[in-house]
Parts: sequence; C-alpha cells; structure tokens
Amino acid sequence: MKYLIDTANVEEIRHCNEFYPLAGVTTNPTLIAKEKSDFWALLTAIRSIIGPEKALHVQTVQTTADKMVEEALLLKQRLGGEFYVKIPIGEESLKATMMIKKLGIGVTMTAIFNAAQALIAAKAGADFVAPYVNRLDNILGDGAQEVGEIVKLFATHRLDCKVLAASFKNCEQIHKCALAGCQTVTISADLFHTAISHPMTDVAINTFDKDWEALYGNKTILDF
Ligand code: G3P
Repeated sequence: MKYLIDTANVEEIRHCNEFYPLAGVTTNPTLIAKEKSDFWALLTAIRSIIGPEKALHVQTVQTTADKMVEEALLLKQRLGGEFYVKIPIGEESLKATMMIKKLGIGVTMTAIFNAAQALIAAKAGADFVAPYVNRLDNILGDGAQEVGEIVKLFATHRLDCKVLAASFKNCEQIHKCALAGCQTVTISADLFHTAISHPMTDVAINTFDKDWEALYGNKTILDF
C-alpha cells in the first residue's frame, strides 16, 4: 500500500517527504484555498519538493467536460512528472475522463461514496478512485467496508483502476483499509505521526538509552 499526503501545505509536504516513505501528494480546492497562496507558485513549489517521480493529484475546478480537459492539459503541462487530474464523479466528469485518458493524462475520480460510482469511474478509464472514508463513517456508513468492496469489484472484473482512499481522521480507518487491500491512502501529516507513535515504544527507547549510558556514558558506537 502506498502513502500519500493530503495537503497543500509546503512545510508539511517537505517534512513528510523527508521522514516518511511518501509516494506523492493529493490536494483539493479546499486544501489549496487554506494556504492563501498564488496557485501556480504553490503547486510548482510542491512539485519541486517531491520531484517528478512522485505522484501529484490536483483537482479541476471546471464543471464541463471540455473545460476539464483544457484544465487537465494545462496542469499536466505546468506541473509535469507523475501527474493525475482529480475530477469529482458526474456525467461531465466521466466524459472528460474518457477524453483525458486518450491524451495520456492520469485521472483520479474523486468524491466517491459507493461502489457503483467507483465501478463506472473505472470503466471510464480512471486510474484511481478516491472514496471518502471518514465522511462515510460520519453518516453511519462504513468507509473501510466500502473501500473493501471496491477493491474486490476491481479484482473480480479485472480492472486496472486502483483505490486511493481519502478523508481519514484516525489510524483505525487506515488500518481497516489496508486490511481490505486498498492500494493507496492519502492522509494528513498528523496521521503519519500518530501512526508511528506508541507509548511502549518510548518506554523501550528510554530503557535502551538508560542502560547504555550506565556503562558507556555519552559514547556512541562511532566512538569505539
Ligand atoms: O480530497 C478529499 C479528501 O481530502 C477529503 O478529506 O478530511 O475533507 O473529509 P476530508
């Protein structure tokens, strides 16, 4: 399973790109607006941090297929590398997906809330579908179960489309999606940190440090 970061904040991206096995960045209009920056300056800064080989998913803000295609071409031209245009599911979006795929540009169909949407998006040629796990959980749905059903459907029907699960608020949701065979998750910087944190780990490290120091003081292996 690949981990992406769901943010447009350059500091968070820089940090997670350095310290975590990050496969790319996902953004959406809300996350970009939160940064209150010049659009192209922000997106080119993000691309330069992650480099051309890591995935960058940027959402179109258009509502008609022709304009979505135009925006996808411009985004791909300006941001290059491993690029996916995110498009919220809808009729114009499916038409745009079929057109954009013919141009060789990656598509992530987003705002997915059920397996029927995901299956049609995959048939239209989307490379990824992005189901919103926490938003489903919030309305008494089961986000991870939905992700599992989509993974199974794509395997049953031998579709190349992958699941890029989004909208996570806790590590249990990520864990359940991983168990369900989800190929990619996009999570916040906070959740990367939460995922690797455990009080028993802190206790173990403190004991190692104390026992070592009792015999060798502040010497390290490099000093021997
Ligand atoms: O891009 C979709 C995803 O980021 C939504 O997450 O946290 O707004 O539900 P959230």
